[in-house]
Amino acid sequence: MIIQNEKQFIAPTYTRPDIVFSHGSGVYLYDTDGKQYLDFCAGIAVNALGHSDPDWVAAVSEQAGLLTHVSNLYHTAPAVELAERLVTASFADKVYFANSGAESNEGAIKFARKYQRMHGREGKTTIVSFSGAFHGRTMGALAVTPREKYQAYFRPLMPDVRVGEFNDLESAENVITSDTAAVIVEPVQGEGGIRPATQAFLQRVRELCDLHDVLLIFDEVQCGLGRTGYLFAHEAFGVAPDLLTLAKPLAGGLPIGAVLMTDAVAATIQPGDHASTFAGGPLVARAAQVVFDRVSDPAMLAHIRDMGEHLHEQLEGKLPQDKVVEIRGMGLMIGVELTVPVAPLVPQMAEQGLLTVGAGEKVLRLVPPLIIDKDDVEQATDIIASVLEAA
Ligand SMILES: Cc1ncc(COP(=O)(O)O)c(C=O)c1O
Repeated sequence: MIIQNEKQFIAPTYTRPDIVFSHGSGVYLYDTDGKQYLDFCAGIAVNALGHSDPDWVAAVSEQAGLLTHVSNLYHTAPAVELAERLVTASFADKVYFANSGAESNEGAIKFARKYQRMHGREGKTTIVSFSGAFHGRTMGALAVTPREKYQAYFRPLMPDVRVGEFNDLESAENVITSDTAAVIVEPVQGEGGIRPATQAFLQRVRELCDLHDVLLIFDEVQCGLGRTGYLFAHEAFGVAPDLLTLAKPLAGGLPIGAVLMTDAVAATIQPGDHASTFAGGPLVARAAQVVFDRVSDPAMLAHIRDMGEHLHEQLEGKLPQDKVVEIRGMGLMIGVELTVPVAPLVPQMAEQGLLTVGAGEKVLRLVPPLIIDKDDVEQATDIIASVLEAA
């Protein structure tokens, strides 16, 4: 009935399997027939603490009873307390809150153009992105997401965008030039197939940005906040950005986004440059404090690295070699590049009680809740191996 009514009442932007979820607990989700699923999708790298985490539920329930929304016309404490945490733990000096990943990237692009204008560099408007990138589906974010399938029907896109080859130093040198306002790059590409940048690439991009007065934006919407075993993925590469975007896991499943920035960038922003009615509201900001405190704990980051290693080893040991091209990624952001299309395999894994998600045509993406244990890893890899063997 739900599925039938959905077809009638909801616009068809999504393809979904015939499963209706009713509730979740920890690493498990349950459908309306009571079937249990081990969740290695985590709402596409969102549910970092799993489902219905008791601390998160308590904080959200308490905050909902106190104050949910007043708009950005007024001061509220939770957003400030969250921003202080983000700034203290990072390269950044200031935070702008948004409601999603795409919206955070829109904000970062606007702030970069404003920065260049405020420095009197009128023609410096080009935004550089790289092949395989995914930055979102709003018009600005879409323009820097170079995938024909996503862009084709929506032209004209935002002008002044140039696309280089990801992890190609020579290409970076060609596309980052004197007319460039900003470069946007994922330290670990997510939708593009779980592809980590090389350290040499990010270092060269940083050097080129410094050389040409270009701002560097790291999009850590998917790879940030503990996912890679580092609080911020770029820490693994020893390269710091001028702006950084976050979203997915930040509020543990409630909609939020954030743009972290240096004081140099913040100094060029004035009231009215950008705004959002909902952004940084007390409820989402309080939820995000719970997530941030948990994922920034060094013991949690060590756990993520250990579980990531275990997952990698189990996949190496169990998967049929003739079906696997490469297992790659960092921490609990792992991609298994297959010799076969991944789309038919995801529902087969769900049938066996494991939720996964594809990234591109042939990459199986594993982005479980960061709280998984060894038994979860073993159970998941058994199911993946059995589905791949039968494929
Ligand atoms: C790296 C990255 N940037 C931006 C986005 C867009 O985020 P949202 O779907 O919250 O707009 C995504 C979503 O998958 C992403 O992975």
